[in-house]
Amino acid sequence: MSEKPPICNYEGSDYQTSFWDQADRAYEDAVEAVALKRLLPSRGKLLLELGAGAGRNTPRYSGYERVVLLDYSKTQLQQAQSRLGTGDRYIYVAADVYRLPFVDGLFDGATMIRTLHHMADAPKALQQVRSVLQEHAVFILEYANKQNLKAIVRYLLGKQKWNPFSAEPVEFAALNFDFHPRTIRTWLVNSGFEIQRQLTVSHYRMGLFKKLIPLKILVWMDSMAQLSGDAWQLSPSVFSRNLAVGASETAQPGSFFKCPQCDTALNDTPPLLKCQKCGQEYPVEDGIYDFRLEALN
Ligand SMILES: C[S@@+](CC[C@H](N)C(=O)[O-])C[C@H]1O[C@@H](n2cnc3c(N)ncnc32)[C@H](O)[C@@H]1O
Repeated sequence: MSEKPPICNYEGSDYQTSFWDQADRAYEDAVEAVALKRLLPSRGKLLLELGAGAGRNTPRYSGYERVVLLDYSKTQLQQAQSRLGTGDRYIYVAADVYRLPFVDGLFDGATMIRTLHHMADAPKALQQVRSVLQEHAVFILEYANKQNLKAIVRYLLGKQKWNPFSAEPVEFAALNFDFHPRTIRTWLVNSGFEIQRQLTVSHYRMGLFKKLIPLKILVWMDSMAQLSGDAWQLSPSVFSRNLAVGASETAQPGSFFKCPQCDTALNDTPPLLKCQKCGQEYPVEDGIYDFRLEALN
């Protein structure tokens, strides 16, 4: 994969409104909340939310003292800011998952929900996440599962060309990927994670179920089905809790950001952070740190 994988750009998108608020996705949102509750540690200091979007999940991280919302889209972060506010608890960072602007070993927790499916180079993204985590930090990953029941049935009936059982990702639309659980597990382990628990999520993501079965019951049914996630994964979405293991840096007290261009630690000096080594400047506007090299240069 190239040095700079392409980015699925949500700048100016009304994703939160059109996909969540105005569409019939209360079920999907509720079953994700169940999975997160099961997987997240009850307490933590500093959590990195990768691909935070408009902050739909952020209130669910209430056990963490501070949360960094990272997204490539500044407009998504602006929406998150208007939902969550600008207090000390939240830090808003516009940056690329492939070039994280944080010193190594900074976070004791991270989540990445509905974001890996936009990664053309998922192993590179996972390695970046691992580098900014301390040893024994918890990383909750959600990914889109190509080996889901619907895809299997369609494949067996000859209505779908790609094979849901094969290891390689499938790009079903531009920069939208489904992954095989086995492949994700291999990438996680190769990146320095130990997989602790898997939950299969969103088993009943079909109009008919949503129409016929009351939301509360459907969510309960899914919460039961989630528990088989370590044994088999046939749902469209899979969550896994992963522990950062092996040799890890620990961030020096007081250090936080680094230059994503040359990896030098940066002094946190809003409204402008300037790299002492390469001279690159990073503005902070209306409480949003901007490390998007392509957008700045
Ligand atoms: C489908 S949305 C999910 C948002 C949120 N996690 C949720 O579940 O509601 C995916 C988000 O990932 C962000 N994203 C995609 N590629 C990215 C990258 N390379 N670096 C940072 N953010 C990225 C998009 O801007 C978008 O906000």
